[in-house]
Parts: sequence; structure tokens; C-alpha cells
Amino acid sequence: MVKVECIIRPNRVSAVKDALSDFGVHGMTVTEVIGCGLQKGHAEELGWNTELNINLLPKTKVETVVPEEKVREIVAAIIGAAKTGEIGDGKIFVSPVTEAIRIRTGETGNAAI
Ligand SMILES: Nc1ncnc2c1ncn2[C@@H]1O[C@H](COP(=O)(O)OP(=O)(O)OP(=O)(O)O)[C@@H](O)[C@H]1O
Ligand SMILES: [Mg+2]
Repeated sequence: MVKVECIIRPNRVSAVKDALSDFGVHGMTVTEVIGCGLQKGHAEELGWNTELNINLLPKTKVETVVPEEKVREIVAAIIGAAKTGEIGDGKIFVSPVTEAIRIRTGETGNAAI
């Protein structure tokens, strides 16, 4: 299993969610975050919380744990749904997951995601 974590523009979340759903990915965690990348947040339009952290811009983080064999197509689908071509489109991080357990049933591994 692999965790795909993407930090994207908030207005791209529903497109990314739909793209994931098309690949049979239904489990995900979505979090509102603030952050910055190469430009340290200064070249983009400002949004919520700017009075607190002028250089941290609002983004949305989508995390999903998927079977290893699906990672490539899922990453491609996320890019397709999230890309505008402008700075600040976001980033995708992929990392290994050693175990998953569905609490209700005790199922583990791919059966639990
Ligand atoms: N190295 C990193 N580690 C953790 N989070 C990051 C990292 N780089 C970017 N992020 C997160 O991703 C968000 C979007 O980053 P962003 O798309 O601006 O990356 P970038 O490297 O500056 O690329 P671009 O030049 O296209 O803007 C940031 O607001 C931050 O939340
Ligand atoms: Mg940037």
C-alpha cells in the first residue's frame, strides 16, 4: 500500500475527488492547510488567515492510501484534475504504508483500504 498525499488548490478539490472516484478510490482524508513552496507564498493571491501568516497560502491536502499497483494512474489522474500550469498548482508526495486495519472488522492490508 502507498499513501498519496497531494496539496492542491482548494478550488480543484472536487475535480480531484471525482478523478479519484473514477479509479475506485473512495477512502480519503481532506484537510484545509496553509503552506508555501518555491515562491514562499508571495506570488499568489492571498486568502484566509493572511493576517496571521502573510506568506502561507491556503491549500487543501488530500490523502489517500491505495494499492501499490494503482499509484501511477492515480497520480496521473490527480495531475490531470489539479493542474492549471500556473505557479502554486501544488505537489504530490508518495510514501509507503506498512499496514492498514479496518477497525470494525479487523480486516488488514488491501482489504482494509
Ligand atoms: N517541500 C515541501 N514539503 C512540504 N510541503 C510542500 C513542499 N513544497 C510545497 N509544499 C506544499 O505544497 C503547496 C503548493 O506548493 P507549490 O505548488 O507552490 O510548490 P512549488 O514548489 O512552489 O511549485 P510552483 O513553482 O509550481 O509553485 C505549498 O503551499 C505547501 O503547502
Ligand atoms: Mg509555488
